[in-house]
Amino acid sequence: MNNRPKEEIDFNELVKDPKRLFGLSYVYFLLIGVVLGGYYVMNLNVITRNNVAPVVVQDSVSLVSDVPLVRSSVIPPVDVKIAGVPTKETIAKGASLFRANCISCHGETGMGDGSTSVTLNPKPRNFHAALGWTNGRKIAQMFRTLQEGIVKNGMASYNYMPAEDRFALIHYVRTFANDFPVDSTSELMELETTYQLSKGSVTPAQIPVTLAVRNIIAEHHTGLAAMEARFAEAMKSAGRGPDILRSVVLNPRRAVSGLVSLQGRTPRETARAVAADPSGFGMKATAALLTADDWNAVNASLR
Ligand code: HEC
Repeated sequence: MNNRPKEEIDFNELVKDPKRLFGLSYVYFLLIGVVLGGYYVMNLNVITRNNVAPVVVQDSVSLVSDVPLVRSSVIPPVDVKIAGVPTKETIAKGASLFRANCISCHGETGMGDGSTSVTLNPKPRNFHAALGWTNGRKIAQMFRTLQEGIVKNGMASYNYMPAEDRFALIHYVRTFANDFPVDSTSELMELETTYQLSKGSVTPAQIPVTLAVRNIIAEHHTGLAAMEARFAEAMKSAGRGPDILRSVVLNPRRAVSGLVSLQGRTPRETARAVAADPSGFGMKATAALLTADDWNAVNASLR
């Protein structure tokens, strides 16, 4: 006889009927489900966030960078040891350069009160005052100012100006006060190492591509108008050239623009170009048979 008290879970019974196991465990499954679900809902924002940065297509057509306009300049070589020492002549030269280039901002007497100075903040430097200079009052420091400008403050760069003229300007500016600090020889020679003044320099001019394109189009238009007039004249005239023109031209507009594009070519080159594509030049196919000699006559009538 089995006297043991009935256990809360009768494992023997469970083995006979495993389905009863579910009745005991579903609470845990439910709990797991609720916890996972809750976790998911709490993190919806994070889960749906786009973790990969969207690809932003850079349309090359919309890029608006272009090369800047650069003045051409030929900077003759200069010896710092000589140019760095003021003379009567350099100061006089500096004075006239100063009147031509600087007084609009710095004022006639270098007080920083030129006519455009009112629009500037900070104000143009008052050369009589010793304090508050950005680069400094030594020759080497002022040379740097004229070379590179202090662009953010409205002081332009004068790097296209011959170095000798810049030294002259500096010597003149330094006459506005008598407490300008003196450069050591090594400070002056540093200008030489930094800017290679004894070599001089040649800067070729450079214009923005957009401007160049506009110029080319404008040139083409003037060429077109001139050619149109000469073409109309030739089509009315007598002679071998006009006869040939009249016999081959189908589309005068196209012919004119084609003839403009052929300007400067030799008759032989012209014959070859037209023979390759007569209709492109607004002409009949027979234009392909024209010889260099024929084109010589045509060109003569278009002059
Ligand atoms: C468009 C106006 C303008 C013109 C033209 C101009 N400057 Fe200036 N210049 C300024 C301004 C503004 C400052 C002050 C810059 C600053 O505070 O950093 C200045 C500062 C200077 C300084 C002092 C730099 C420093 O260390 O503080 C020197 C030197 C100077 N200019 C020389 C010249 C000379 C020489 C010329 C003529 C070739 C000239 N400037 C023409 C506006 C001008």
